[in-house]
Amino acid sequence: MMLTTMEGAVLKVPPSFRTIKPNPNHTNRTFRTVPSATASAPAPLTTDTKLGPGSLGHLTRPDFPILHQELNGKRLVYLDNAATSQKPTAVLNALRNYYESYNSNVHRGIHYLSAKATDEYELARQKVANFINASDSREIVFTRNATEAINLVAYSWGLANLKEGDEVILTVAEHHSAIVPWQFVAQKTGAVLKFVSLTEEEVPDIEKLRETLSRQTKLIVVHHVSNVLASVLPIDQVVSWAHDVGAKVLVDACQSVPHMEVDVKSLGADFLVASSHKMCGPTGIGFLYGKSELLSAMPPFLGGGEMISDVYLDHSTYAEPPSRFEAGTPAIGEAIGLGAAIDYLSGIGMQKIHDYEVELANYLYENLRSIPNIRVYGPTPSKSINRAALCSFNVDDIHPTDIATFLDQQHSVAIRSGHHCAQPLHRYLGVNASARASLHFYNTKEDVDDFIRALSDTTNFFASFK
Ligand SMILES: Cc1ncc(COP(=O)(O)O)c(C=O)c1O
Repeated sequence: MMLTTMEGAVLKVPPSFRTIKPNPNHTNRTFRTVPSATASAPAPLTTDTKLGPGSLGHLTRPDFPILHQELNGKRLVYLDNAATSQKPTAVLNALRNYYESYNSNVHRGIHYLSAKATDEYELARQKVANFINASDSREIVFTRNATEAINLVAYSWGLANLKEGDEVILTVAEHHSAIVPWQFVAQKTGAVLKFVSLTEEEVPDIEKLRETLSRQTKLIVVHHVSNVLASVLPIDQVVSWAHDVGAKVLVDACQSVPHMEVDVKSLGADFLVASSHKMCGPTGIGFLYGKSELLSAMPPFLGGGEMISDVYLDHSTYAEPPSRFEAGTPAIGEAIGLGAAIDYLSGIGMQKIHDYEVELANYLYENLRSIPNIRVYGPTPSKSINRAALCSFNVDDIHPTDIATFLDQQHSVAIRSGHHCAQPLHRYLGVNASARASLHFYNTKEDVDDFIRALSDTTNFFASFK
């Protein structure tokens, strides 16, 4: 496999690279469910009305039973939404209803339960198609998660279409799920992976991406919203440049589909993937969107039941997409749960969710910057730059896992620490890990206030040992 980087960005570890060792100090905790968490919310740091009482976060919080509990006597503040989102009662009910009243296998039975399960499963596919404005539900393939969806494209489209010398362009900020499958394909085909670095503003440098494009480029694999930098890429622009040289574009929309309107027609994406569990749906289900003509020309990824037309002892013929790519019994209840999540999100409105999250994102960013010796990664928000509602950061001389552990055990604030499945990006940033607080529309300003207070307490605690 040939692996090249733009200006050696991926492989070169900056001199300031710090290997930070975590403090493996864990204690047992107690869990207690409480009727209402908002009752004990502390006084806000500011009085911004869009985030005040009656905000989207305050209105939707009651829909999420898990949020209303105490850990170690403190209300739970869940700020790990980029890893997975919480599930509203509507989704829990849809799952329960499926298993209690019409659990059955799809596409194979003529009895009532099977017909009902099939209808609901296919309705869920239609809901996904409508949600991202696909032309036809047959452009939606259900997968186990976004990772499997990317592997599907890599093993099916990639192995069939890439050859030695062809180029696949990615950015250094891609999630491992969007990098590793293409390393496999590059090893097998001799295709070259090219990685685009960041601008000074710590946003993937799409001008460099444009300069890297050539007739050798066959595919661009790019995220829509970064799960570390919180940057948002102009996918429509990238797609138009790619199409000018005859390349396809695979969009990793894991961090955009749950938070904003995503319209595959206006983006022009050839492939797009997302995971249900990040969009208030169940785990175990995700989807691949692919343009009809591309999916129709692609060979199967996995062999087995459901994906065939006819099976002979020496060969088989295959079903049309999407069945061609859904071998075996699918995650039926989970797909139906995803459909319920989409109904729930659509009921609120993705624009409304996005607008609220932009406010919350700015509030988080501004308040985080008040912590001494903090470094927040990604662009500074401005009139022209919206950040997604997450912040990855480091505080001088404190390991991010120590921060996350202290926040969890002393304050019941759940954030994430580590490389967030983006090791190349962390190397590029000169660290091996960061802490990350990530929000969703059911978070409130009080959640951010609690987090900032807890972080301030944490940094003061560690500073006291100096
Ligand atoms: C940007 C991005 N891409 C891909 C993935 C992989 O999603 P999954 O683990 O659900 O397959 C994630 C999950 O963290 C992500 O944030």
